[in-house]
Amino acid sequence: MIYYNSQTKSFLLSGKNYSYGMYINRAGLLQHLYWGKKIGAADAAFLVAAHGLPASPNPDDYNKEIATDGMPSECGSFGRGDFRPATVVVRRKDGAAMSRFRYVSHKIVKGALHLQGMPCARKADETLILTLKDDFSDIELDLNYSVSEDSDVLVRSAVIRNAGKDAAEIAKAFSFCTELPDTRGTYSALRLAGSWARERTPVITPLAEGTLRIESARGYSSHQMNPFLAVLSEGCGEERGECYGFNLLYSGSFAITADVSQNKSIRVQGGINDYLFGWQLQGGDVFATPQAALCYSGEGLGGMSRAYHDFFREYIIDPKRVYMRRPIVINNWEATYFDFDNEKLFSIIDEAAKLGMDTFVLDDGWFGKRDGDASGLGDWFVNERKLKGGLKAVIGHCKEKGLKFGLWFEPEMVSEDSDLYRAHPDWAIGKAGAEPCRSRNQLVLDFTRKEVVDYIFETVSKILRENDISYVKWDKNRDITENYTASLPADRQGEFWHRYALGFYDLAERLTKAFPNVFFEGCAGGGGRFDGGALYYFPQIWTSDDTDGLERTKIQWGTSVCYPVSSMSCHVSACPNHQTGRTTPFATRGAVASLGATGYELDLTKLSEEEKMQVREQIENYKQIDELVLKGDLYRLADPFDGNYFCEMLVGKDKSKAYVVGERFRADPCDHDRVLKLRGLDEGKTYAIRELNVTASGAALMGAGLFCPRLPDCGSWVWHIEEVNKKG
Ligand code: GLA
Repeated sequence: MIYYNSQTKSFLLSGKNYSYGMYINRAGLLQHLYWGKKIGAADAAFLVAAHGLPASPNPDDYNKEIATDGMPSECGSFGRGDFRPATVVVRRKDGAAMSRFRYVSHKIVKGALHLQGMPCARKADETLILTLKDDFSDIELDLNYSVSEDSDVLVRSAVIRNAGKDAAEIAKAFSFCTELPDTRGTYSALRLAGSWARERTPVITPLAEGTLRIESARGYSSHQMNPFLAVLSEGCGEERGECYGFNLLYSGSFAITADVSQNKSIRVQGGINDYLFGWQLQGGDVFATPQAALCYSGEGLGGMSRAYHDFFREYIIDPKRVYMRRPIVINNWEATYFDFDNEKLFSIIDEAAKLGMDTFVLDDGWFGKRDGDASGLGDWFVNERKLKGGLKAVIGHCKEKGLKFGLWFEPEMVSEDSDLYRAHPDWAIGKAGAEPCRSRNQLVLDFTRKEVVDYIFETVSKILRENDISYVKWDKNRDITENYTASLPADRQGEFWHRYALGFYDLAERLTKAFPNVFFEGCAGGGGRFDGGALYYFPQIWTSDDTDGLERTKIQWGTSVCYPVSSMSCHVSACPNHQTGRTTPFATRGAVASLGATGYELDLTKLSEEEKMQVREQIENYKQIDELVLKGDLYRLADPFDGNYFCEMLVGKDKSKAYVVGERFRADPCDHDRVLKLRGLDEGKTYAIRELNVTASGAALMGAGLFCPRLPDCGSWVWHIEEVNKKG
């Protein structure tokens, strides 16, 4: 609901549990008023009266401009007295970059805004488009706000328009800016940091004067830093307190900053990484930023996560796929790596069929001259020397056994030892005369160039057209370096990063449209591109190359801070684990993997009879709970970063069913009194816990809780909770 009061020139935007207020102050500047617990339209006048006061004691200072340094703004400007980081900076023909954007007009439209060539929220109830104009140039700015009654996420973006004749250059184009007031408590910030095999570790630090900046300068969202920041009010915990989430629906190099100013208010903003960014805007040109998803929670981090999960499922992920029962996949990567032939694959497929799996996914190594990671990328033609009878033979075998077939691609990459590179060496990102940086022996294709994207679209399409393929794993195994394209002139190299991201989106859009029956799984050396932009095309993303039964609890926990469990591909792999060398019980690996889109990634022919029995049980179990994985609410009960336990719980929206998975990391003679208070149940309902043979009310299970079981190292437990039929 978007409410405009023409008398006070104020806007009050409200979603499910939050309101967001701003107004046009007497200087014509768009001033931020409020973001927090939902309030009524009747309070808009109060907000203006109480919070619309200028930061300066002298209201006239606004006209002298300098007072804006303390003004809570919806768009920070440069060079006119606001010394905090700016939101949008445009350099004009004469080189001047100062700006002051003032209100021109606004409109409220039904529905969402569609972004051409970029992922965006698929729907919204209403959108407010606020148009501002720079005092010193012909640059106009639209600030867009989309709200929905059933969501706690506010979607924001900006559009920059050159309404004049002279060319200008955008030096910074963030998607949003907002401010949190000084409440004399300490705010802290949560980021999801990591590395390969350790993606999305929550790191919380206090915010203090100065700027906290998180970013990726790797050409994609990255393992190292997710495009997400949460600001936590003092006292915010897992289920209590207020927090504010900032998620960029973007897969390219990004930045999010939180700047604590002299008056202790915090300006939070983010968007395309402005480091070396530049975008030429000719007269009449328009530039749209990626969207950002802002979320308010009055119910702690858990409440924020659940709001984001609903948002990604309902607003971002392809509606045809999001609640589709996910195939139980057997992937051959850790079973064979590059070393396979028909016989080896057939034996895995045979076993997968016997165990009740749905889809065989053939990973890296099936194409070109690809017997190791030094060659073949870019040659998307089946290697018939390795696979006798080509893909058709493998697919035929899958069909015979009742399995569907999936295939791995790494569309954005090229090996120097490949026919593609030999034919088009200039298609790889690099700078003539400079030795390119190599990573995993490969280079990145220049996706800023349309002919390169077109070629990859054609070759990948040919494989998908000519074969019965229901699943694609889209990988990406290195960072982008050189950051240069010969296809742009010297003064436009600042466009490189964003144009690469647009090239990726172009290919993803075209392939997912052309093959609507193919299920696309994203991947980037594990979970290096796990972001809201990628989720628009890929309903599921390979969470991490680390499948260790202990480490995975942390990676999945951290990922769930923002992203729904249904979007995480989670596989059971062999032990000793290939990444950590640790051995964990088979049951634990299965239990942890059941908190996501479950699958297997190991040589099934090497399983013992006991393990095979467990696989059958795990698949049986998964079929009982996959509805909760797809649609349920997640409650995080025991934090694996803080103590000896991991525990998460999924609860059905109607609260009739729940599923708990826990793990105890170390057997410890003195650690046996840990009580887990369940959450999310209906206090008034009676529930039975199958494994414990216990019946109790939701109130008792949440109030008194249950003891964690005593278990050996990395032992796990699973509880199925179901409402007891009242009549029964
Ligand atoms: C990446 C992926 C793995 C696997 C390999 C293949 O590392 O994360 O799952 O597909 O590439 O090269």
